[in-house]
Amino acid sequence: MESIRLVRPAPEHERAVMEYREEFLRDGDSLDGTAGLRHAESYRAWMEKARRNEFSETLDEGLVEATTFLAIRESDGALVGFIDVRHRLNEYLAKFGGHIGYSVRACERKKGYAKEMLFQALAYCKTLGLKRALVTCNDDNEASRRTILAHGGVMENTMTEDNGQVVERYWIEL
Ligand SMILES: CC(C)(COP(=O)(O)OP(=O)(O)OC[C@H]1O[C@@H](n2cnc3c(N)ncnc32)[C@H](O)[C@@H]1OP(=O)(O)O)[C@@H](O)C(=O)NCCC(=O)NCCS
Repeated sequence: MESIRLVRPAPEHERAVMEYREEFLRDGDSLDGTAGLRHAESYRAWMEKARRNEFSETLDEGLVEATTFLAIRESDGALVGFIDVRHRLNEYLAKFGGHIGYSVRACERKKGYAKEMLFQALAYCKTLGLKRALVTCNDDNEASRRTILAHGGVMENTMTEDNGQVVERYWIEL
């Protein structure tokens, strides 16, 4: 794995982000950690919303403050993944979503990027004053479970969504 850094979305990321979106939609993959990129009307609208939602003053109703990061590879500037940090939990996040969501593009998987992204996101959680982070995964998502376990996640329990999906809930001490 090469080194990556987490950056907030900016105008220059438009092409890479929209390609990422197309790739995931084409593969029927879950765009986790992308702050609703699936439903984006345009890159600019999505980016501005993601950046507004970091601050309580400009937060959309019904949401909690969140910071959305792109994982950019240092060597070539490629977008390898997304990771989204929710600053606090609402009822849905406390049950199912957790503090952090993430995804890695298919061609970059199994190289350790998700583990590194989560490592950097957990450090960011600490700067927000969090003492522990809730990270969840579907019970059939082995890759995500192993990503969480690699950072010392301790399972509290499972919860079942309305659609029958069983979600495992892990706490990571910061
Ligand atoms: C889950 C996901 C982010 C993992 O990304 P990744 O960069 O491939 O993960 P890493 O390379 O850091 O590997 C993390 C761990 O998962 C394991 N792993 C990776 N892919 C795996 C797979 N397909 N099956 C089983 N284990 C897998 C790795 O071996 C590693 O475990 P280890 O440290 O015990 O060896 C990626 O598969 C993805 O984007 N999936 C779609 C979106 C998603 O499910 N997001 C998570 C929602 S909770």
